[in-house]
Amino acid sequence: MTDLPTLAMTEIDLDAIVSHGGRIALFVHEDGKLGRAGRRVSSAGRGALARFVESEAFGKMAPGDAKTFGYPGGLSATSLTVVKAGRPITPELARRIGAAAADGLSDGEDLLLIAGTTRHPGELALGALLRAYSFTECKSSDAPAPRTITVMAASTDGAEALADEARARAEGVYFTRDLVNLPANILTTESFAERLEGLREIGLEVEILDEAELEKLGMGMLLAVGRGSETPSKVAVMTWNGGAKGEAPLALVGKGVVFDTGGISLKPAGGMEEMTMDMGGAGTVAGAMKTIALRKARANVVGLVGLVENMPDGRAQRPGDIVTSMKGDTVEVINTDAEGRLVLGDVMWYAQERFAPAAMIDLATLTGAVIVALGHENAGVFSNDDDFAGAFLKAAGSEGEGAWRLPLGDRYAKLLKSAKADVKNVGTRWAGSVTAAEFLKRFVKDGTPWMHLDIAGVASPAEPFPTGPKGASGWGVLSLDRLVRDRYEAAE
Ligand code: BES
Ligand code: MN
Ligand code: ZN
Repeated sequence: MTDLPTLAMTEIDLDAIVSHGGRIALFVHEDGKLGRAGRRVSSAGRGALARFVESEAFGKMAPGDAKTFGYPGGLSATSLTVVKAGRPITPELARRIGAAAADGLSDGEDLLLIAGTTRHPGELALGALLRAYSFTECKSSDAPAPRTITVMAASTDGAEALADEARARAEGVYFTRDLVNLPANILTTESFAERLEGLREIGLEVEILDEAELEKLGMGMLLAVGRGSETPSKVAVMTWNGGAKGEAPLALVGKGVVFDTGGISLKPAGGMEEMTMDMGGAGTVAGAMKTIALRKARANVVGLVGLVENMPDGRAQRPGDIVTSMKGDTVEVINTDAEGRLVLGDVMWYAQERFAPAAMIDLATLTGAVIVALGHENAGVFSNDDDFAGAFLKAAGSEGEGAWRLPLGDRYAKLLKSAKADVKNVGTRWAGSVTAAEFLKRFVKDGTPWMHLDIAGVASPAEPFPTGPKGASGWGVLSLDRLVRDRYEAAE
């Protein structure tokens, strides 16, 4: 598990700035005006900083751009990073400039963020925490040295609460990133379930259903996917009861395919190793539940994840097999590589039968087609409820996580008609993300507001992104947490 850097929020202390041994980051507005701390840094370096912020080079920088100077004169710091702040400072920009300040921080290096009067110091801190993540769990070298991120702000009113909140949110994102980055020989369905059981420590109820129980429940689709694997299929149920007793919860459902070979409809070898991230939906649900629990959200939220591995084997399901879902619908499995929808359909049905949720969101690295449509910038959003979808898009917008609505429709659903069974698991070549969503929609009860997030493109982008290194992004944890605050949380 990747530990968060220690986060401290303090008042401006000019002497502590001069004697700080790691990296110092300073936020300077477009007008180049230096605050008290900035003037001190500048005078320590005989006006070098003042010359820089008056220069053409600084003038040409865009908000969020940063420039780092090594061994700045008059300070004990190893480097000084000047980040252009811009106005107005929205929470999203604050997070972005906080992240820019932590970009390229070396192992074990402490970071001092001089926030001064910059708005949203909590978001600055969160950005820096997120950018400081690196996945080292599988390196044999020593564990990375612990780091401290200190945010110095003009006022420390409410600072402890802000720091707690930033930590809670970053912990959830770190948890998701670790899970998504781990390979399938280490993150098996069993070790995944064990990591989820670890969440009991922070007050979540966690229940693991094994194959015998899933059999009894009739989850024929989910079990068919896992049949070719040595690692047993499981469903984990995480419950957070922070809201009113008896109030219907929000249900989060995640696809947790720890590895997707495609099954008998085997994928090509090139790039197959990327399918270690095919549990991204489950990873995001787990991270969101962690954040929700850590900040003791006043809402009822349940997270359910289907943990399976899709392998080819003598016992694996075949193309042409007809399986029966928990709902009772029969499904002709045309392509064993369209496995995520089989897993989700059963878990979604179970979530509704057991919890009668107020609303349900499923998350899945479901289709390559959504990457063709939206690339790595936006997740695909499908919903049967405009108001619900609108609330999520707003939450995602304010968290800086890309999300874009795509359509559903009966004409797409028709493409799933099967001659032999109630439905088949794939449509034609076209609109693959939409037909996948239509398949899921069969497992949504009338009256349940539902949203499907296809995160295949955003869960683990191939390039570094503003708030993190290359690899798992943790996309969705913050948006889901925001949605819970906006829509489900009781006022204090
Ligand atoms: N896990 C994949 C989707 C995926 C592709 C995720 C690339 C991340 C990156 C999913 O199970 C899958 O294989 N989908 C097929 C569906 C097809 C057989 C209808 C696909 O997208 O090709
Ligand atoms: Mn697949
Ligand atoms: Zn898959």
